Parts: sequence; structure tokens; C-alpha cells
Amino acid sequence: MALVVANWKMNKDLAEVQGFFKEFNKLRKNTKADVVICPSFTLLNEAQRWAKGIKLGAQNIASEEKGAFTGEVSAAMVKEFCDYVIIGHSERRIYYNENDEQVNKKVKLAIEHKLTPIICIGENLEERKKGKTQEVVKRQLEAALKGVKETDIVIAYEPIWAISTFSKGEIATPEQAEKVHEMIAGLLEKKYYSNKIRVIYGGSVTPENVKALMQQKNIKGVLVGGGSLKPESFAAIANYGTST
Ligand code: PGA
Repeated sequence: MALVVANWKMNKDLAEVQGFFKEFNKLRKNTKADVVICPSFTLLNEAQRWAKGIKLGAQNIASEEKGAFTGEVSAAMVKEFCDYVIIGHSERRIYYNENDEQVNKKVKLAIEHKLTPIICIGENLEERKKGKTQEVVKRQLEAALKGVKETDIVIAYEPIWAISTFSKGEIATPEQAEKVHEMIAGLLEKKYYSNKIRVIYGGSVTPENVKALMQQKNIKGVLVGGGSLKPESFAAIANYGTST
């Protein structure tokens, strides 16, 4: 089953959540894709009231279990609302200096609390230009999964240069994305002897390009930022492959 994930980032208020779901619930057709929406922490409660036939996720969790960590939100806290959590998004790695070690701690905490981690990895433009994509992706993947045996996890390959936040108009072609997905799938199979782990793609996914991406053999879903904010756009992405 494919997986379509919305990352709303730091957008929307309570009224906008209601407005989104009123439309989205009408537009979404039964597809073969699992759908997950990741709103801000403060909107999870409201989103839970409106979400129908989809799952919710958080955008981050603390790297500690509990205690005196002002402003942090723990895995146990989000588990009351969610089944998934995005970990190691490039915006967190770049703006908040999150490193591979913290990502690994968060992945383990998520698993302990029965949250499915959506682990983001991907190279920046300079690394790609220098031909280091495979090396960077492999390093991030192995660091995030150090000591992890669970296979109920999701890997999101998000080339930083193709994410709308950082992109200067560049987007990855389905073939460029597939090449890296193939490598990740190979690494995961070697490590886990299993192809159960879903590897999804993120970076400027739109209703227009989702189908071509999903046709690639090793792309098992998408992680959508900007394209997930409007109900019409996200429904079109979640409904990919169904006739309209
Ligand atoms: P984008 O964001 O779809 O706006 O490029 C994707 C992401 O940051 O996860």
C-alpha cells in the first residue's frame, strides 16, 4: 500500500483546520493509498476530531523521554493523538542543527512509543554536484537506524535542493528520484532482509507530478509540503491514479 503524507509545517490555525477537512473529506476518494496528515502540535486535537479514514502524525518529537525540557513535546505526548512522526526533516537539521545522533535517539523513542517514524534523509545541492548523493544518503540512513530492528518505519528521501523551502526552481525528475530510491531499497534489504520498509519521496510534489513519481518501481509514496495545504491540491495528490 502506498503512503501519502502531508507536512503542514508551521501553517494553519484552528478555523483553517476545520475548513481544510470539510473540503478534503468530500474530495478524497477511496484509493489504494494510506493518507497521513501532520499538523502542528497545537492543531492535533482539532485535526483528530475531523480526520476520517486517515491517520495523523506529528512533525517532530523531543529526543528525551520526559522531564525539565522547556518547550519540548515528548513521544508519549504526541502518541495520544498520532500514529506517525516525522523525524530529521531537513528544516530541523538546517535551522535547528539537529544531527544524526539526535535523529537516531528520536527514532528509537518513537518506536518505543509505538509511533511510526517517517525518517527524512537527503543530500544538498553541493553534495549532489560533487557526486556525493549516495554517500550522504547512506550515512544518514545508517546513522538514523543504528541499533534499530523494527521494520514498521518509513524512509522519506527528500533531496534538499528539490524541497520548495530551499529550491531555486529545481525539482528532481522521477528518474533522478528513482535512482536514489533504488539504492536505499537495496541498502534496507541488505540490512533487514526485508522489503517491508516503505521509502517515499518528498520535494515539490504536486497533483501534476505525483503520478509519474508513483510509477517508479521503488517510490512507495510521497511526502508533501506546499502541495498539501489546500484541500483540492492534497486530495488530488492523495487520489492519484483514480479517475476524476
Ligand atoms: P515541499 O515540502 O513539498 O513544499 O517541497 C516537502 C517537505 O519539506 O517535506
